[in-house]
Amino acid sequence: MNDQAEKLRSRLLEKSSLQHMAKTLAVVSGKGGVGKSNFSLNLAISLCKKGERVLLFDMDIGMGNLDILMGRTSLYSIADFFDQCISLKQIVSKGPHGLSYIAGGTGLSHIVKLKEEKLASFMEQLDVLMANYDYMIFDMGAGITEESAKFILSVQKIAVITTPEPTSITDAYSAMKQIHLLNERIPFYLVINRTQSEKEGQETFKRISAVLKRFLGRDSNLLGVLPDDCGIQQAVKRQIPFVLFQEKSSASKAIRQMAFTLSNSQDDRLIGNQQSSEFISKLKNFFLKNKK
Ligand SMILES: Nc1ncnc2c1ncn2[C@@H]1O[C@H](COP(=O)(O)OP(=O)(O)OP(=O)(O)O)[C@@H](O)[C@H]1O
Ligand SMILES: [Mg+2]
Repeated sequence: MNDQAEKLRSRLLEKSSLQHMAKTLAVVSGKGGVGKSNFSLNLAISLCKKGERVLLFDMDIGMGNLDILMGRTSLYSIADFFDQCISLKQIVSKGPHGLSYIAGGTGLSHIVKLKEEKLASFMEQLDVLMANYDYMIFDMGAGITEESAKFILSVQKIAVITTPEPTSITDAYSAMKQIHLLNERIPFYLVINRTQSEKEGQETFKRISAVLKRFLGRDSNLLGVLPDDCGIQQAVKRQIPFVLFQEKSSASKAIRQMAFTLSNSQDDRLIGNQQSSEFISKLKNFFLKNKK
């Protein structure tokens, strides 16, 4: 083959491997019950309302409640993918405003104990699915387990939710330290939830970021501050996502601002188009390595 033809061939190959891939965000916390699921769901809906295609993954498997929060019942959950011959695409349910979601199932350890063949198929199918979305958001259970760390360490950004309470801050710091010791590069985006004022949120963030800088030598970002709002509790009781229940509340505005910040960040635009999913290759590495 002549030189020019060879060059053209390699350029075409390069181009086809640079395909559109969803940006990945894991939502974590130290302490439980600090607002991860409400944040994940309402952020996802706000992104959808901006025209983004979002797949929300309930990773609090066994105790997942995203479908309850939006008043839907999903036909299948992630457990059905592993237990039955159902494709990953089939277990995707539809939420409001075109949101796609995968409901939680019966324990993350379930995934880990699976045979390599099924796991490999899970990741292959996830890889294909990812090309159809702009964002993939993982609502994780509280704390960091050996299994959840594999997902968390594979994503591009980590949203860490905490309230201003010292117990919640201490646990959030422990979770971030645990992640940091395994990977120093994945950026932390803090969300200070249930604040009495914007000032309280900003001050809480300053305290956390100072500790992260001092003890881990690490920078962090403030994604946003969410006020304590009894309308959110009413929305949960009514099983309506709060951005749809009270569109004009300060909490809804704050979430919309966070969706705006995320979708407009310069690095997000860059990492949306990447070499065939780095996320999947990291996941494969974590899950398939050392497996018989
Ligand atoms: N900003 C807020 N204002 C008022 N109440 C809130 C706010 N955020 C969350 N809550 C309350 O906290 C409860 C727990 O929220 P959520 O289920 O989102 O937490 P979680 O971190 O996902 O919990 P888990 O760790 O169990 O998964 C909600 O049902 C709601 O009543
Ligand atoms: Mg939750």
